[in-house]
Amino acid sequence: MTIRALHVASELYPLLKTGGLADVAGALPPALIERGADVRVLLPGFPAVLGGLSDLRTVARIGRRFDAPHVTLEQGTLPASDLVVYVIRADSLYDRPGNPYLDAEHVPYGDNAQRFALLGWTAAQLAQQLDPAWAPQIVHAHDWHAGLAPAYLKAAERQHGKAFAHSVFTVHNLAYQGVFPAHLFGQLGLPADYFHMQGIEFYGQLSFLKAGLYYSDRITTVSPTYAREIQTLAQGGGLDGLLRNRTHDLSGILNGVDYSVWNPATDALLPEHYTASQLSGKHACKTALQKRFGLASKGDALLFGVVSRLTEQKGLDLLLAALPEIIKRGGQLVVFGTGDAALEKGLQRVAHAHPESVAVELGFDETLAHAIIAGSDVVAVPSRFEPCGLTQLYALAYGSLPLVHRVGGLADTVVDASLENLADDLTTGFVFERFEPDALGAAIRRAFALYARHTEWKATQRRAMHQDFGWGASAERYLALYRELA
Ligand code: ADP
Ligand code: GLC
Repeated sequence: MTIRALHVASELYPLLKTGGLADVAGALPPALIERGADVRVLLPGFPAVLGGLSDLRTVARIGRRFDAPHVTLEQGTLPASDLVVYVIRADSLYDRPGNPYLDAEHVPYGDNAQRFALLGWTAAQLAQQLDPAWAPQIVHAHDWHAGLAPAYLKAAERQHGKAFAHSVFTVHNLAYQGVFPAHLFGQLGLPADYFHMQGIEFYGQLSFLKAGLYYSDRITTVSPTYAREIQTLAQGGGLDGLLRNRTHDLSGILNGVDYSVWNPATDALLPEHYTASQLSGKHACKTALQKRFGLASKGDALLFGVVSRLTEQKGLDLLLAALPEIIKRGGQLVVFGTGDAALEKGLQRVAHAHPESVAVELGFDETLAHAIIAGSDVVAVPSRFEPCGLTQLYALAYGSLPLVHRVGGLADTVVDASLENLADDLTTGFVFERFEPDALGAAIRRAFALYARHTEWKATQRRAMHQDFGWGASAERYLALYRELA
């Protein structure tokens, strides 16, 4: 039996991306389709989404919803992949350029509750045949933006006395909870008793994330270690009690890599290609990167790269604290990202003080991201917490050894260069345990020590490049979950 599943998300690569969620939304549905499922995606009609789809046509007229006067549901396809994408056209809510969540001053839009309630509501309507030609058996909602979908589904089930679809809710990041003032509850059109501790209420406010966690049939998150971490008081963001209660419905399924996008042998965004058996092109990528960022052209300087959102989560303040360890040993650092103004300033200050060895550029650009992942010797991901993390997986594929904090998906995907791991040919990178400068500093020293052992470094690069983090195994696990529910 073919299973019909609707993925509900707020971003999707290559249409619109602020982080790893877009990579997952862009790669998981095709991986499921390849394995026989009938999968479609629902997105808000942001300009980049409407502009990037082909064959757009209207499927249903919804009329007035959440203050938007003329809402319609449209359907298009993603060029190159034929993925069917439903889009909600509600221009007063979504027709705003740039970041899908924040205004030009980096402040969340004042009507985000309405903007994303419409996303969850429409998902539940699709399960009730809003499109006469297709309805999902599984609604798979991603992050707080889609958190109300399971709530609207449960409400419809109660109203009609039958279930329209089963729901899976995937937590990509528990730190973003979609919390809004309680007075907005009336606008959501949910049953009055849903505003409750056993429901959508969260310390007197509304939480879209909690709605997803509470009303979904199954919960997944993006790595096995993060699935355990979020059930602890320390990392549960106030929701650990609920997550522990649902521990039997909760599983961690690791994200995968789309190797058609991230492969150094074919990557069109690189100055030169390379493979595990033919690494010389990687050296050319490093030279090009040093040049691009105005660093000293030293082939033997150990080059650390960072491609990241610049937020508290990513732990770059710790990297700054350990920076003397890199500079003292003749290493170099390239940081590329955007986010917190204070962190941006701090990084720029350091680059200014060490122009030969540290370069910082602010922005978001796919080409530069690929160039850094390929041209670096080490890709640093010192996150305080990391649900899965994709950059360390991309780094492995590019033979750029990841240096990571032992948390979440980072702990599940990188093997440290300890003596015993080296002896057993297991090493793929550098892992530090305590989130403290001396622990990170020691991992940096391990990187320099391994780099000095040329043959072992090369062997480790090859091992990293041979790791398989493709979507295959994870897509199978999602399918098994869908089958269990359907
Ligand atoms: P998160 O989703 O928490 O940001 P991930 O590691 O899962 O972390 O995913 C980050 C994604 O965003 C990767 O595809 C990474 O290459 C990309 N990315 C991060 N910062 C930038 C940037 N400044 N420019 C381009 N891509 C970026
Ligand atoms: C979130 C997490 C990141 C994860 C990504 C995709 O943004 O911060 O760790 O890889 O979602 O699941």
